[in-house]
Amino acid sequence: MAKRTRGHVDKAADVLAIFGISGDLAKKMTFRALYRMQKAGVLDCPIVGVALDDWDDEALRAHARGAVEATVKDPDGEALEAMLARLSYVQGDYGDDATFERVKKALGDAKQPVFYLEIPPSLFATVVKGLGTAGLVDRAHVVIEKPFGHDLESARALNAELCEVLEEGQILRIDHYLGKEPVLDITYLRFANSILEPVWNRSYISHVQMTIAEDFGVDDRGRFYDSVGAMRDVIQNHALQVLALIGMEPPSGNDPDSVRDKKLEFFRAMRAADPKRYVRGQYDGFLEVKDVDPKSTTETFAALELQVDNWRWSGVPFFIRAGKCLPEKTSEVTAVFRRPPLLGIGHGKTPEPNQCTFRIEPEPGSRMRMFQKKAIAEEFEPADLEVLFEGEPGADPEPYERLLGDALNGVHTLFTRQDAIEETWRVVQPLLDHPGKIHPYEKGTWGPAAAGDLVKGVTHWSAPWLPNS
Ligand code: BG6
Repeated sequence: MAKRTRGHVDKAADVLAIFGISGDLAKKMTFRALYRMQKAGVLDCPIVGVALDDWDDEALRAHARGAVEATVKDPDGEALEAMLARLSYVQGDYGDDATFERVKKALGDAKQPVFYLEIPPSLFATVVKGLGTAGLVDRAHVVIEKPFGHDLESARALNAELCEVLEEGQILRIDHYLGKEPVLDITYLRFANSILEPVWNRSYISHVQMTIAEDFGVDDRGRFYDSVGAMRDVIQNHALQVLALIGMEPPSGNDPDSVRDKKLEFFRAMRAADPKRYVRGQYDGFLEVKDVDPKSTTETFAALELQVDNWRWSGVPFFIRAGKCLPEKTSEVTAVFRRPPLLGIGHGKTPEPNQCTFRIEPEPGSRMRMFQKKAIAEEFEPADLEVLFEGEPGADPEPYERLLGDALNGVHTLFTRQDAIEETWRVVQPLLDHPGKIHPYEKGTWGPAAAGDLVKGVTHWSAPWLPNS
């Protein structure tokens, strides 16, 4: 990695400037996060919003108030007013140098800004160049939202453009999955429990399976979703990032790169995906969604197998399935252990394999599935050891709250590095090049039957672990 010579943080940021403040992400996520940060006492700087809309400070505040009231139940009046008081607005076109002069003026004496770009990726480079020309980047950090490119080549091209103005250490790429508390819990559970490490490998684990399921469709995001599909929307980024935490070697040292280096090694050991081990589905009705091409072959469901060529995982398939309009909203990853041999107990049946599940949602937690004797019968039955992570529901910082707080404090651990992004694109690139046919599936099912065929001979997709199941 290039050493950071600019953007070095020796104190917290003194201003947050948000480009695209009038957009959907800000409305749904950012104002809520800023409010929660204010309430938690961790927001300590002015916020400058930038967008094309013909607004002034008051219009921005009214919009922000509406967004908080729509996303937070009974907001605390004092915290809300304090957050709103931090806001000011700069109107402008991102292609116009004058916009950046106005931003500069609005930043005042601030020395260490964080610029958060909640804008279409096609505008990242324009805004970053504008910031550079206005002389605003020397001690700045720039937070960008996925997608980071559309494939390996475009990811490299985008980065090259950003790096004409910024250094790698100044670019904070958000993958909001990495800000989820239960995703952070995975690393702790794996490495803080010495009973796990000896069995966390190909000698004991037969395969890993991950599900990211949503029980709703594309809704009003037709245009965006039709251009990406499930592979680019959640698998290349969220799913692979979580699998890296499941599969990486233990981190050493506690600098921001210790975990990111181990994840990178895991990705490097991952074989480029095989299009023959890839199934795509599209829910019935997707073609009628507003702004979706009526002939679209974009996948709203994807299932695939990945292989990792290293000492720990060689020969252990990693299966992923993700999709919209499935029966549940759930996200989990399970390591399935090897099946015990046929025993002289249990009426000649082979016991099922143990499973260790990390549930990201709903109700984050972890479950170790063991087996015991069923009362009175000579049979095996599951005996689950379950831990729920959240002490007090809703008390943990939410992903955007945590990640924006980290960006303002110069904590980079949870932001994805370009080298890892390129590796993940390398892994999925053959699937983008040879996507194969699209299988229709009915809404409310677990995707096309072909997804079951993908795992046949090794396993079946486990029913997700749901609360009270
Ligand atoms: C986003 C995707 O990155 O992640 C969405 O663009 C998806 O399509 C979302 O719904 C899932 O994340 P979460 O945190 O809402 O489960």
